[in-house]
Amino acid sequence: MPTSPSNDQAIGVFDSGIGGLTVAASLRRLLPHENILYIGDTARVPYGGKSRETVERYSIEIGNLLLAGGAKMIVVACNTASALGVPRMKEVFEVPVVGVVVPGAKAAVDSTKNKTIGVIGTRATIASGAYEKAILALEPGATIHSAPCPLLVPLIEEGLIEDSVTDQMLRRYLDPLLSQGIDTLVLGCTHYPLLKNAIARIAGPTVSLVDSAENCALSVGHLLRESHLATPKKDNGQLEVTLTDSAEGFLRTAARALKLPITKVSLQNSPERPKN
Ligand code: DGL
Repeated sequence: MPTSPSNDQAIGVFDSGIGGLTVAASLRRLLPHENILYIGDTARVPYGGKSRETVERYSIEIGNLLLAGGAKMIVVACNTASALGVPRMKEVFEVPVVGVVVPGAKAAVDSTKNKTIGVIGTRATIASGAYEKAILALEPGATIHSAPCPLLVPLIEEGLIEDSVTDQMLRRYLDPLLSQGIDTLVLGCTHYPLLKNAIARIAGPTVSLVDSAENCALSVGHLLRESHLATPKKDNGQLEVTLTDSAEGFLRTAARALKLPITKVSLQNSPERPKN
């Protein structure tokens, strides 16, 4: 019989790669005493152009690795896996599963004044319509303008955070949304908070940016308290990162940009596809 998780276990966090460290950084700020066990599926990144079936399967495989590592809950720190994989993960796993889409949608609805909201993300996230659905469930009168931005993840992974090429791409992606009069823009990909300054500069002061990482961390905090899973410890928590393939370059970029102390980094092979 499965045993219930206890409050001294780590929070399991998962992303297709290293972008979810933006969520780990928000968790670290908000819940400094919690241990975090982070898995980045760097062998199979990007998820952003893959099918629902594949993203669901990867999400369940990585969820199982987190549970094997002793996680008390699973935070899906990847918008693509949240949009496509979380519904099935909630059916399969007994521990709480939190994604980034619903907290991001709620923050967007709280922020908008003119009910005109922009959403940017990977192709798979935008094609899934998950943000539209979550926003409309909370605010049926909202108008949503979405845009896939497939080139932003590679630009960020190349470390081009403050760069004229990135600014040019941002203008190309954002101009059609800005011309629709959005007053709120959801950064619907875990990499995008790293471009927050550049996006704010291009979107201008009338557009509020909703950072899904920050809002996901707030939801995790509520859930831990509600389910009596918050750690009783008072010392600083550890962040252990496991990658399914090496990603040294971007790991350094992310750790530097986020000022995130990582206790330990290890490698583990991607889970094998189960043979039928
Ligand atoms: N982590 C993914 C997301 O938030 C971006 C990278 C990928 O495509 O896997 O959607």
